[in-house]
Amino acid sequence: MDSGSLYSSIIQVVINTHTHTHTHTHTHFLQRLSHTGSRGTGAYPVTQGVRPEGEGTHPGRGASPSQGTPLVLNGLQLVKEALVEHGENFAVRPTVPLSEDIMLNKGLFGSNGYQWKQQRRFALSTLRNFGLGKRSLESQIQVECRFLNDVIDKSQGQPFEPISVVNNAVANIISCLVFGDRFDYSDSYFQTLLKLINELLYLEGGIWAQVKHLVLLKLKFSEEFTLKIKEHKEDWDASTPRDYIDSFLSEMEKWKDDAEAGFNEDNLCFCTLDLFTAGTETTSTTLNWALLYMIKYPEIQEKVQAEIDQVLGSSRLATMADRANMPYTDAVIHEIQRMGNIVPLNLVRLTTKDTTLRGYTIPKGTMVMATLHSVLFDETEWETPFTFNPGHFLDAEGKFRRRDAFLPFSAGKRVCLGEQLARMELFLFFTSLLQRFTFSPPPGVEPTLESKVGVTHSPKPYKLCAVPR
Ligand code: HEM
Repeated sequence: MDSGSLYSSIIQVVINTHTHTHTHTHTHFLQRLSHTGSRGTGAYPVTQGVRPEGEGTHPGRGASPSQGTPLVLNGLQLVKEALVEHGENFAVRPTVPLSEDIMLNKGLFGSNGYQWKQQRRFALSTLRNFGLGKRSLESQIQVECRFLNDVIDKSQGQPFEPISVVNNAVANIISCLVFGDRFDYSDSYFQTLLKLINELLYLEGGIWAQVKHLVLLKLKFSEEFTLKIKEHKEDWDASTPRDYIDSFLSEMEKWKDDAEAGFNEDNLCFCTLDLFTAGTETTSTTLNWALLYMIKYPEIQEKVQAEIDQVLGSSRLATMADRANMPYTDAVIHEIQRMGNIVPLNLVRLTTKDTTLRGYTIPKGTMVMATLHSVLFDETEWETPFTFNPGHFLDAEGKFRRRDAFLPFSAGKRVCLGEQLARMELFLFFTSLLQRFTFSPPPGVEPTLESKVGVTHSPKPYKLCAVPR
């Protein structure tokens, strides 16, 4: 939620490892950068506030990045150098004035320091306890795959927009982890929650409208989550935690003498909200890209289906153990994530120390955007950066090949907390959808890869037909 406002911040300082040539679907996003920035995305190694090593700053030469103007880092080498090699210096998020009063140091995205460390550690270990890497979560996702496929089946091969039904299925996986159970897609509590999240992610209007809206939404979310927390407390048994909320309640007992760690009910609401917003929008947008690429490139869809038929047959749902035997499907999913590029600008970080990068000193307190777009399309890393090409992830023998520049989840200390969960969901949902249906554009429609930039970079609404196989 903070990220939306951060993405649209003004950009004035750019460090590139190289210049890019940008084409087709991605130009709009770059235009956005160059419109907002006084200097566009060209290779300007040094501008305001960033000084070559050994030189002083230049007072009076315009605003320094530390006063709110982000420094943009482009290209795999530079992004890795900053986020991984100097990881400790880039581990903090800036506070956003708009949301400062409401969510200062709360949740998982926006918190910092000791509280963030404790909350991130707890969230990761709880996600692990409730399924990551375990059969239990795998089977919950399989259950959801069946529900999703059944709803799609009802379309009877007629055109429909896939986004909301996919979104319901993905949100239910977070529901299982946080609330301990899935919801029926028509459940009114579930739909209220999803509607609120959508409103939050797509806040519109002027700045005051946003502040007012944010306060109201915060109150509504607190109400909704407080309800669930109350239910949990009624039959809570510390010895058998059922989900994230139960585990958080235990943690509140454990940390009651250490308020700084943030284990209180207010923060539980914010962490829950962050898990829902981060865990739903991102994964369902990626699946939405996946279906769009499959209708755009039917020959690739056919090859995935051939591999599914060979490894799984027509009825056994995939497990994560199957992934190793399905290199083509795995490569296609990676390529969807690369081209989908759903968090192009990454989330913003703040330097905690003066840091030297490529001979330039970045002062402490500088906002930094280590852009993922520049890595996923880095022309020095990818053979055909702007073409959908699963071959990027396959070797000469057709085996899966890892790539350093595959960083859709970012890198370093604040790397996506849900990476493992997202990868599991993408593999299991994608294989089950293509096992059960062949997707195609509505008759007479030529699919386009047009996108829109909101909180994530996502396809413009489109329709498809799903014909049972
Ligand atoms: C395809 C799916 C996903 C993508 C592409 C994605 C991408 C990202 C990116 C780029 C960041 C910013 C990292 C940085 O600052 O360097 C991030 C942060 C985060 N993601 Fe994800 N994400 C995905 C799914 C998920 C899921 C399923 C969850 C929920 C469990 C999740 C939870 C988070 C959280 C809590 C953070 C903040 C971490 C922190 O600040 O310490 N993400 N994600």
